[in-house]
Amino acid sequence: MKLFIDTANLEEIKKANSYGVLDGVTTNPTLLSREKSEPMAQLKKIAEIVKGPISAEIIGLESGKMVEEARKLSEISSNIVIKIPCTTEGLKATSMLSRAGVKTNLTLCFSSSQALLVAKAGATYISPFVGRLDDISLEGMNLVRDIRLIYDNYGIGTQIITASIRHPLHFLEAARIGSDVATVPFSVIDKLMKHPLTDIGIERFTQDWKKLQDNL
Ligand code: E4P
Repeated sequence: MKLFIDTANLEEIKKANSYGVLDGVTTNPTLLSREKSEPMAQLKKIAEIVKGPISAEIIGLESGKMVEEARKLSEISSNIVIKIPCTTEGLKATSMLSRAGVKTNLTLCFSSSQALLVAKAGATYISPFVGRLDDISLEGMNLVRDIRLIYDNYGIGTQIITASIRHPLHFLEAARIGSDVATVPFSVIDKLMKHPLTDIGIERFTQDWKKLQDNL
């Protein structure tokens, strides 16, 4: 499963990138608004750090406007992926952009029917939001499972990005289901390698090694 970081913060991106396991970045208007810098310039800086796909979201709600914005965002760097909401206007824009060879990430996906239609329109990625479904007492992971089943039924190549991940179990479950990508906030990435028994084990090995040195 590919690992994307879900942030627009340069320090977090640099840190996660230094682990050597980062495949891409997803941003959204909320994440960019936290950085208090001009969004296009911020996206350019991100694209200079990570060579994999960088999702940048359009704001317009009408397909013509979406395509126009997508063209501008694409000029930032060749690894920019255009993030478009799962609406009928988004569907039209996705068809146009996919015919022009522009990569897209269909965001705010909350149903399998949305996922199937955007795949037909040529979406490169689909982003089901698991955390936001859990927030309203619906099992977010069931959506990822259902999309995986439907895509496999028809050999659909649109890649599933499990998004709105809130904790390590979301990440693990996404891998069990066979999600192509998980986009994960830095705070969660950092928890993925943590285990108290690893820390206790290191502590004991270090102490025993020291004892051995002292007794030689
Ligand atoms: C990713 O593409 C989304 O922007 C992100 O995962 C949303 O996460 P949130 O529901 O925690 O805001």
